[in-house]
Amino acid sequence: MQGQQFRRVGALAEIPEGEVRAYDLPSGRVAVAHVEQRLFAFGDECTAGGCSLADGTFDDRQAQVTCGSDDSVFDVESGEPVRGPARDPLPVHAARAIDGWVEISLHPLR
Ligand code: FES
Repeated sequence: MQGQQFRRVGALAEIPEGEVRAYDLPSGRVAVAHVEQRLFAFGDECTAGGCSLADGTFDDRQAQVTCGSDDSVFDVESGEPVRGPARDPLPVHAARAIDGWVEISLHPLR
């Protein structure tokens, strides 16, 4: 992560464990999932049709988010689609909690 610039987007308390929130970055809207004290940040826009994944359903045991539109499923750690119709992966950002704040890398890792 060396060289990555981070943006503070909100308080960790805003994302209870097992939930997802979306934040605006200059590069686009990024969703952050909170799973067992780990944070995963990924593009909020479903690659199938553009719906917000933060408005979908999150399975924290599988670390997967399901799009509310046509049921595409993504792995929130890798961004890869687990089930279509989506075929392309989501951009994935670095995420960290510092002193109770959530910070996201300004640019995707991939
Ligand atoms: S917009 Fe996500 S599956 Fe259609």
